[in-house]
Amino acid sequence: MTPSDVKATLSFSDGSPSMDMPIFKGSVGPDVIDICKLYAQTGKFTYDPGFLSTAACQSNITYIDGDKGERLYRGDPIEQLAEHCNYLETCYLLLKGELPNAAQKHDFTKLVTNHTMVNEQMQFFLRGFRRDAHPMAIMTGLVGALSAFYHDSTDITNPQHREISAIRLIAKMPTLVSMAYKYTVGQPYIYPKNDLSYSGNFMRMMFATPCEEYVPNDVLVRAMDRIFILHADHEQNASTSTVRLCGSSGTNPFAAIAAGVACLWGPAHGGANEAALNMLEDVQRMGGVEKIGEFIAKVKDKNSGVKLMGFGHRVYKNYDPRAKLMRETCYEVLNALGLHDDPLFKLAMALEKIALEDDYFVSRKLYPNVDFYSGIVQRAIGIPTPLFTAVFALARTVGWIAQLNEMIGDAEYKIGRPRQLFMGSTARNVTPILQRS
Ligand code: SDX
Repeated sequence: MTPSDVKATLSFSDGSPSMDMPIFKGSVGPDVIDICKLYAQTGKFTYDPGFLSTAACQSNITYIDGDKGERLYRGDPIEQLAEHCNYLETCYLLLKGELPNAAQKHDFTKLVTNHTMVNEQMQFFLRGFRRDAHPMAIMTGLVGALSAFYHDSTDITNPQHREISAIRLIAKMPTLVSMAYKYTVGQPYIYPKNDLSYSGNFMRMMFATPCEEYVPNDVLVRAMDRIFILHADHEQNASTSTVRLCGSSGTNPFAAIAAGVACLWGPAHGGANEAALNMLEDVQRMGGVEKIGEFIAKVKDKNSGVKLMGFGHRVYKNYDPRAKLMRETCYEVLNALGLHDDPLFKLAMALEKIALEDDYFVSRKLYPNVDFYSGIVQRAIGIPTPLFTAVFALARTVGWIAQLNEMIGDAEYKIGRPRQLFMGSTARNVTPILQRS
């Protein structure tokens, strides 16, 4: 952080002593006002529910410019990474700060590949779930359960433990997600195959059966890999902030990542891809494109509680760059599968066109986000709707780990402990039970 030569001065209209606060500049993006000494010097907290104006940390990992619709992983634009790299190269970049050279890429890929199996005992956790359990309920349990198997890598303060648990988590998420899927459809688990790519391996574990071999389709594998790249990290979003806060207690990496999985499940966050596809299917059932006007009217009616899922973003007040890339991927996949007339894709594009012209959305800067098209791509690939968010969690695991490790290595690291504005009852006496109304 670079101290600015401008200071912030806080003054009070009641004549209380004013206070100067340093301002720090990042390499790019908004400056920050350092309020660390505010409570000690004034006895007052800041108040910022939802953290609309709060930077909780400094980071070198992902930069988002919400107005320009720009996103950089360690300085590299995601558009270029999506075109020129694969997901494991992107994992290496997020974890280590630079893209791997050919030798490093080979070694990292080999290391991840050799950790894709899970302990055979893991399958018995699944048996406790109903077959119709939501995959994210299963994933929240399975990821947390990993901490019961790797006592040799649970000390978050040990760099070697952080290194091996990162590899284990990145390597095993595809295996766990495919196990969660196979369990819900009553099919046997498919073991990873070390001669396949990371994304090809995931698709085979998802769609192969012991009865016949599954040969991954290159266009679909590339699309899956691109979905992983686009979802890999996203600055201090809700689930990443959850992982940081959870990890700040010193808990093991598996437990901290399980907390991220649980947070991502929410429909306002990673659960939006499942909700967006369900929304499109609902509109399709209502009558499709002809009924869009009626649906949009419901969205505008605050009392309806209906949101345009897959639209809007806390940071992007322009088109989410991931949505653009996801729409292109959608087009490629549907064409490769001969589904260019897919009614849901047509409906999504018609909905997007109307929303981008309608003042209700334009005035609120509600643009399509990553979740609007990702569901259509995943559905075309054959991923069932309830599994969309588990796929998001698979891809985001590397971002959560990179952010967790950055926090642990930060000189400012301490356990996170926000305060509150207390509005409850002041001290009173306990009412004896016979006098309670
Ligand atoms: C992700 O943070 C991240 O980076 C997340 C993520 C990541 O990669 O980690 O990018 C992934 O979570 C993407 C977002 C997925 N969520 C959705 O698509 C769900 C639908 N969108 C929203 O619920 C909403 O837009 C949020 C939660 C994403 C953002 O909400 P904010 O920033 O708190 O904005 P807000 O709720 O205060 O909305 C501002 C206005 C309100 O109307 P008014 O009070 O001004 O009249 O916009 C309206 C909202 O009612 N609004 C919507 C809307 N989103 C906001 N109206 C209709 N449909 C929507 N989708």
